[in-house]
Parts: sequence; structure tokens; C-alpha cells
Amino acid sequence: MPSDPHDAVLAKVAAALTPAMHAVGAMECAVAVLKQEIPHYSWVGIYLVDGDELVLGPFLGKPSPHTRIPLGRGICGAAATEKRTIIVDDVNADPRYLACSIDTKSEIVVPILQGTRVLGEIDIDSDKPAAFGAADRKLLEAVGALLAPRLAANPPGSG
Ligand code: SME
Repeated sequence: MPSDPHDAVLAKVAAALTPAMHAVGAMECAVAVLKQEIPHYSWVGIYLVDGDELVLGPFLGKPSPHTRIPLGRGICGAAATEKRTIIVDDVNADPRYLACSIDTKSEIVVPILQGTRVLGEIDIDSDKPAAFGAADRKLLEAVGALLAPRLAANPPGSG
């Protein structure tokens, strides 16, 4: 049976997350591995839920103007409120889209869940149209599952 194209990337993320690593370090590691390993991931970041907003945490790529996003806005807000992964093949055709870079063509947003509670989300933009599919969803949902216990145990800002 052919292996999933992203299995090796998931293994690298899992190996990078050492037991002593706290939430911010774990998020930084995951972002770094994803950005490095997958060429079509042009911007990789993690937003954290803070009250009724999403707050930008670790990211790699061009600085985003959207460092705080109300839960009701953007593709990021939609994924958090609907508690499901959203893939957008053409961001310019989606009225929810909040532009981060004029080069971005497609986006995937994956909630980081602890049970039914949304702790944050992984947001990835690509300069390629329709860059994201089932393999990306599977990889990023698995990375979210690796991060969730760390975010729940020592959320950023908890000292
Ligand atoms: N495009 C996102 C905003 C975040 S930037 O992509 C970094 C959205 O529509 O919610």
C-alpha cells in the first residue's frame, strides 16, 4: 500500500516536539517543520483563541496585518466557529477572505481541538491556486492533535 505523502512530515513534527517543550516552543517547532518541508506552504501560522478573538502566535512568512481576528470574521473565524477544517481553492472568490498577501491564492485553516473546545488553529496560505487537498487536511489535523494537549496544559501567557 503506498504511504501517505505527508507521513514523513508528520513524523518530523512528532520527533521535534520534545516532552519538556511548552506550548510556544511546540507551536514554533511545528510551524518551522511545516514551512520547511512543504514547498507550497507559503505562509504558516498558528492563531490562538483569546475570548472572542483569534490572536496570532508563531508564524513564518510575510508579516500579516491580521494579528487579531474576531471569531465571526475571515476564513479563520469561520473555521473556529464551525469547528471544522476549511479549504479554499481560490481565496479571491471567497467573500469571507481577509487578505494577508496579494500573492496568496489558496488557504487551509485547521482548528486545534480539545474535545469540542477550540484552542486555536493552524492557518496556511499558498501562492498556488487550489494547493490543498485531503493529504494536507490529514497532516494538519494530526499536527493539531499533537499540539492540543500542550496548549491545554500550559496556554501561552499562563507564565
Ligand atoms: N486569510 C485569513 C486571515 C489570516 S492571513 O491569511 C494570515 C482569513 O481570511 O481569515
